[in-house]
Amino acid sequence: MNICIIGTGYVGLVTGTCFSEVGHKVVCVDDDEEKIAILKEGRMPIYEIHLEELVQKNRARKRLKFSTSIEEGVKESDVIFICVGTPPKERGEADLSSVEKVAREIASCATSPKLVVEKSTVPVQTGEWIKRVFKMYNSGVDFDIASNPEFLREGTAVSDFLNPDRIVIGVEKENAANTLEKIYEPIINHQFDPILHKSSSPHPVPLVITDIQSAEIIKHASNSFLAMKISFINAIADICERVGGADVEKVAEGMGLDRRVGRDFLKAGLGFGGFCFPKDLQAFIKIAEDLNYDFALLREVERINRERPKLLVKKIKDVLWIIKNKRVGILGLSFKPGTDDMRFAPPLEVINLLHKEGARIKAYDPASMEKAKKLVPHIAFARNPYEASEGANVLVILTEWDEFKTLNFSKIKKLMVNPLIVDGRNMFDPARMREAGFIYKCMGRS
Ligand code: UDX
Repeated sequence: MNICIIGTGYVGLVTGTCFSEVGHKVVCVDDDEEKIAILKEGRMPIYEIHLEELVQKNRARKRLKFSTSIEEGVKESDVIFICVGTPPKERGEADLSSVEKVAREIASCATSPKLVVEKSTVPVQTGEWIKRVFKMYNSGVDFDIASNPEFLREGTAVSDFLNPDRIVIGVEKENAANTLEKIYEPIINHQFDPILHKSSSPHPVPLVITDIQSAEIIKHASNSFLAMKISFINAIADICERVGGADVEKVAEGMGLDRRVGRDFLKAGLGFGGFCFPKDLQAFIKIAEDLNYDFALLREVERINRERPKLLVKKIKDVLWIIKNKRVGILGLSFKPGTDDMRFAPPLEVINLLHKEGARIKAYDPASMEKAKKLVPHIAFARNPYEASEGANVLVILTEWDEFKTLNFSKIKKLMVNPLIVDGRNMFDPARMREAGFIYKCMGRS
């Protein structure tokens, strides 16, 4: 199929590249000239494992190209995916101005029937609005619309796209479902390079075909449920601490072995960040409010999450007493390991709280220091974990990067003023850390 992707962020660039990898002809369009120039030079605006090699491969075989012209993309394509950003506005609702602008532009340059698919995370009933825009700006062309939400995680986006747990398609007309089923057919049957397969004996991917509004709600409900799991286990961590002696990691293990609960997203710690959970949660609460439903449950998920950085700083105070002028070494700045993304990263809130208390901070992160230097220019940065530990009164772990698992703690102990570690992501075994001579504090474990 000839496909146009509008918006080349995490979702659009991964979607377009993977569609070209499985055999479609794709043009990715963005109005950000610099981003398109980077992509045309063969460089990547974001890091995702496998992405660069797939972009190069498919550009070389003329299945993938980049443009700043929506008109070019629309003319050459039968199916158009809207993958533009829907950032939060001041009261938490999603900013849909990019979606509306792109819908208008598609309508004004289409001269033949088009299937337009919303893939950006949008509030329920956005599909209705897109349809109205088409009627208003181009009543002469037959537009069909669909919703096809994405469930990509940063750091594993290519693998998540090619090996989805399910594909959700919201449509009004059956032929839209047939077209999208044809587009996804190579992914449903895993007909692509086996090195990109997630499991050895893959079954056909389940397809959920429903109406547009249900598809839009599946996205919001899925993200909110995952965020709720995280806040739930963080609440359990607080109870484990009050009980004294209970271990939230063991509780999560015991819970997660129940297939109905599942072990994933039960990792207690500093809570969730990133450009999805926080904004999708806010947007869903706002959507519910506009539908006269008070989503108190999700407000509580947000409240628990907001408390995590404060709780961590309280743990530092409990052992340091006074934070002012103390040297704090920080390991981990990105919102999760495997990415350099700092958007809504919980470590930023911890740094702001410590800075307010007058701490002298030196931070290290394997990937996101360039971005962090722009966001928290008032702190010092270290070239490695040991430099961050040098002369520190306390070492604070905020992102659970794999490379921290192999740190030489006897070396770190010698570098620090006090052998004190506060671990916001429960990376280490408390007994082993104490044997190594550290005062070790973590989340939800004695
Ligand atoms: C999320 C959803 O997983 C994905 O389906 C959706 O499409 C986009 O939003 P992402 O935000 O990229 O993906 O990362 P994810 O791995 O979900 O982690 C989100 C945040 O939750 C991170 O800050 C992570 O540290 C935190 N988290 C995750 C926990 O605190 N505990 C957990 O058990 C899992």
